[in-house]
Amino acid sequence: MPIQVLKPKFHVDECLDAVRECLEKGWTGMGFKTVEFEEAWKNYTGHKHAIFLNSNTVGLHLAVKVLKDQYAWSDGDEIISTPITFVSTNLAIEYENLQPVFADVDEFLCIDPADLEKKISSKTRAVIFVGYGGRVGQLDKVAAICKKHGLKLILDAAHMSGTKVNGVIPGTWDGIDVAVYSFQAVKNLATGDSGMICWADEEAGRITRKLSWCGISKDTYSRSNKGTYAWKYDVDYVGYKYNGNAIMAAIALTQLKYLDEENERRREIVRKYNEGFRRNKKITIVPAPYENECSYHLYELIVPDRESLLNKLSEQGINCGVHYRDNTEYKVFSYGEGQAPKAHEISQHLITMPLHMWLTDEDVEKIIQAVNREV
Ligand SMILES: Cc1ncc(COP(=O)(O)O)c(C=O)c1O
Repeated sequence: MPIQVLKPKFHVDECLDAVRECLEKGWTGMGFKTVEFEEAWKNYTGHKHAIFLNSNTVGLHLAVKVLKDQYAWSDGDEIISTPITFVSTNLAIEYENLQPVFADVDEFLCIDPADLEKKISSKTRAVIFVGYGGRVGQLDKVAAICKKHGLKLILDAAHMSGTKVNGVIPGTWDGIDVAVYSFQAVKNLATGDSGMICWADEEAGRITRKLSWCGISKDTYSRSNKGTYAWKYDVDYVGYKYNGNAIMAAIALTQLKYLDEENERRREIVRKYNEGFRRNKKITIVPAPYENECSYHLYELIVPDRESLLNKLSEQGINCGVHYRDNTEYKVFSYGEGQAPKAHEISQHLITMPLHMWLTDEDVEKIIQAVNREV
């Protein structure tokens, strides 16, 4: 069996027990386990307002929409984002007829605060910061810049489940308006597809909950326990069917118990990789600030000839990956070509090494030796 680049580890028996509970109860939709998981997530992270959704993508859409409505932004207003991310980050801006403007990245592959400040215009309303691979980057400086210029700050925390800074989850920092997590199939906290949106502002959270459930004023679970008036709800907003369900929440609740110890194993593998690649002059390791608390969803190297290395490693049973193409290479964002030259250049040379719970120390050693042989 080749070594995979990403492979989730499910605690199968425990997950099945939790799912069985949903099936036996006859409740697989929103409510019951989704409420339990929201409480568990708030407890784990320190976020005050958390709404379980069917993905991070829909969470980013709601983050942008709620802020646009609350602050009366106009179509065509700008949100500064990164070009090296999964396309959802930037699509979320487009869903609301706003314009992504691309800032360049720093050594951590996160938005570079110096370039961010240069990209601010009279139309800028917000920043979406992606914690790339779980890295917190210079989020503190970005938050200070947003405060200074009166911009809203959305944290795309798709990779950041479990990342901490001095024991604190960075999404809860002062100055971050909303953080959106992903529990998609290969994330550190894997389900099938689901996500969580966490607001600092209670009112934004209240509106988001309604918007995520077709704009309906009462949820089905509480209605099911209220006898004959279950059908008597209003529709307050033109909402969406974005809610998460009990099956995903049951899996998430189980996986959450193991998140910290699994992230610790990720860091152990990263330390071995860092030591193994440190002396190779042709390889640049992508660093992480607070590396002893980073979730390390992804471990990347910057190498001279990425395509050739991918092929050579694949021939040796080691499947690496590429995350992500510069989004301005996609037709819908091609207007942004040249806005972030450093990100563009780095994105041609980035390769993602295998990093997951199924890797043995022998696998890691084999990967280090193979890479050093080929680069
Ligand atoms: C940086 C980033 N943002 C957003 C997403 C979207 O997450 P989801 O698949 O939960 O919608 C992903 C998923 O790969 C991602 O990597």
